Amino acid sequence: MACSKEHGLSSGFHDAHSNTYDQMASNCTLNIAKQFVKDLPLPITNDSHILDNACGTGLVTLLLKQTYPNLSPKIHGSDIAPNMLEIYTSRAKEHEWSNISTSVEDVMDLKGLKDDTFTHVFTNFGIMAGPSSPDSKGPLRAVKEIYRVTRKGGVAVTTTWWKRGFDVAMEKTTGRVKPGEKAFSFGSNGEWETGRYLMGMMEDAGFKREGMSVKCVKGAISARSLEELVENNMLFKDIAYKGYSEEELGQVRVILAEELQKLEVYKKTDDGVEVEQWAWIGVGFK
Ligand SMILES: C[S@@+](CC[C@H](N)C(=O)[O-])C[C@H]1O[C@@H](n2cnc3c(N)ncnc32)[C@H](O)[C@@H]1O
Repeated sequence: MACSKEHGLSSGFHDAHSNTYDQMASNCTLNIAKQFVKDLPLPITNDSHILDNACGTGLVTLLLKQTYPNLSPKIHGSDIAPNMLEIYTSRAKEHEWSNISTSVEDVMDLKGLKDDTFTHVFTNFGIMAGPSSPDSKGPLRAVKEIYRVTRKGGVAVTTTWWKRGFDVAMEKTTGRVKPGEKAFSFGSNGEWETGRYLMGMMEDAGFKREGMSVKCVKGAISARSLEELVENNMLFKDIAYKGYSEEELGQVRVILAEELQKLEVYKKTDDGVEVEQWAWIGVGFK
């Protein structure tokens, strides 16, 4: 799911759409989290203390719980959107997770969290949450906060988007449905979407050079069918298709399906359909 300077899918948007967040994300954040969780450079044990930073509905925590069903480390979920945390908490109750806590926090100022607390800090697509802030150093402030709350010897894993194939299809769709108007775009975060930028911020924040890495990984936005993928995208209608009539929204459904299938990065899989997305995974030790 994108976070951009132009549209800033930040707190207000996520708070208002928390109930549909998992559908909207169509596995895109989860598919990247799966890649760092299976390959952690510091093992998780019962003594670990984990921060799921900008946790949203808790997809990273869910994945950790599924990956380590016999462990019960302390996990803290924080997010700026109280409605997201409400879903996180009900998910924890539903699965009877123990050792879970939550707090409302801004990634750029984790006020309620003490220095040197966590053995693992996971921030899956959370540091670009600041772009709508007037402070263009928002992501760096977020990475500095991640460093501050990481315990000595602990590890922080931070992800950002690089290429989001889906956005091209949305842009083309809006251009076809409303040819006279500016096509919708999530916009580009430019320099912010480079691995170099993520690496630079980790260095500036104080993470050790030794053991630091940024790698580019391929993920996907996926659903069980093309229809489902399109319907999930329609949940963005408040921003991408704002002011569209019912008839125009009907056209969006048809045209988006066409445009998605034209993408080189669209493919059918055994489980449904997917559109390739690329992300950066930054790992740093304190
Ligand atoms: C793209 S979602 C990622 C959610 C989750 N980490 C995942 O992997 O699915 C971004 C999350 O950041 C939250 N967020 C936005 N602005 C924030 C801020 N300034 N501080 C903390 N969280 C923020 C949103 O509420 C949303 O839950």
